[in-house]
Amino acid sequence: MAGFQSPPIRRILTVLSVLFVLSLSTAVSAFNVSTLRFDEAYTPLFGHHNGNLIRSSDDKSVRLVLDRYTGSGFASSDLYQHGLFSASIKLPSDYTAGVVVAFYTSNGDVFRDTHDELDFEFLGNVHGKPWRIQTNVYGNGSTSRGREERYLLWFDPTKEFHRYSILWTETHIIFYIDEVPIREVVRSDAMGGDYPSKPMAVYATLWDGSTWATSGGRYPVNYKYSPFVSEFSDLVLRGCRKDPIQQSPSAAAGDGCAASDAELAEAEYATITPERRQAMLKFRHKYMTYSYCYDARRYPVPFPECDVIPSERVRFRDTGNSNIVGIRHRRHVKRGRRVPAVGMGSNSQAAI
Ligand SMILES: *[C@@H]1O[C@H](CO)[C@@H](O)[C@H](O)[C@H]1NC(C)=O
Ligand SMILES: *[C@@H]1O[C@H](CO)[C@@H](O)[C@H](O)[C@H]1NC(C)=O
Repeated sequence: MAGFQSPPIRRILTVLSVLFVLSLSTAVSAFNVSTLRFDEAYTPLFGHHNGNLIRSSDDKSVRLVLDRYTGSGFASSDLYQHGLFSASIKLPSDYTAGVVVAFYTSNGDVFRDTHDELDFEFLGNVHGKPWRIQTNVYGNGSTSRGREERYLLWFDPTKEFHRYSILWTETHIIFYIDEVPIREVVRSDAMGGDYPSKPMAVYATLWDGSTWATSGGRYPVNYKYSPFVSEFSDLVLRGCRKDPIQQSPSAAAGDGCAASDAELAEAEYATITPERRQAMLKFRHKYMTYSYCYDARRYPVPFPECDVIPSERVRFRDTGNSNIVGIRHRRHVKRGRRVPAVGMGSNSQAAI
């Protein structure tokens, strides 16, 4: 298939991206976080018996492999009540339609009907079309109320490592790419149980999302291009370790984690400075392709946490899709085909 961007447009986009990064890098500096070895905090989840989870000799990075037999994944050995969960990730290159890489927190194994979840999902693509990123938030089993947002990136995530972080505190959630906050969810009373409140583990997985990941399942995984390999390093896990079974249902969220919560609240990445907020708005303006907040067909009444900005509203159709970003992509894609995810307990809307 021909690439969807003609060369001059690609060149212009590259120049714009470089300018974008330069304008961001002056505004934000790297987080001061210490990284862990795999064996200090993580455990293999699946695919390791097939040799599809490969740890480096210093145990500081991990390769996940998807071949025609299995994908692979790992998880934190413990659950955490709030924290910063972060990894530098390099995505599989070449033809990756149907391939899904996920970096997320969840407690679905412990609380089957009332689970909480915070997601980064990376959706592969056909030749010449870029990876897309989706973030999502679930609380207390709110799987019928997906809060998806989707974005393009200002870099090629298959070429080098970039840091993806999820900050979860008592009061707010921030998704970061490198040091740029890309999404903030502020807890409100109106959100109720939809705000994640119970201890979660951290997961990293690579799997076959053929039925939904690329254009609603139109492009399944093509194993001619396998193995697909994604690499994770700079593993960061900073939070309050907690045994979910010992937590009584009525216990306050911060119970036993007060000191850790206070420390987290003080961390520089827990606050969005004016400069970072500017960078966030810029990113969302340029790269957000879908927001549940503007999807009036699915949610006629926006969720309480949705800060619907009129000037932003006009950039989205009532399907929640941007009418500016990614428009050249959609020209080739049937619209309106959405299938719920079948993988990993997440009920995400498929990418367009
Ligand atoms: C980074 O964090 C370490 C450990 O928490 C601390 O000792 C050090 O002072 C911090 N460095 C900066 C530049 O904030
Ligand atoms: C979570 O869901 C359960 C079961 O539906 C309900 O009993 C509980 O009150 C909810 N918790 C919150 C914090 O909304």
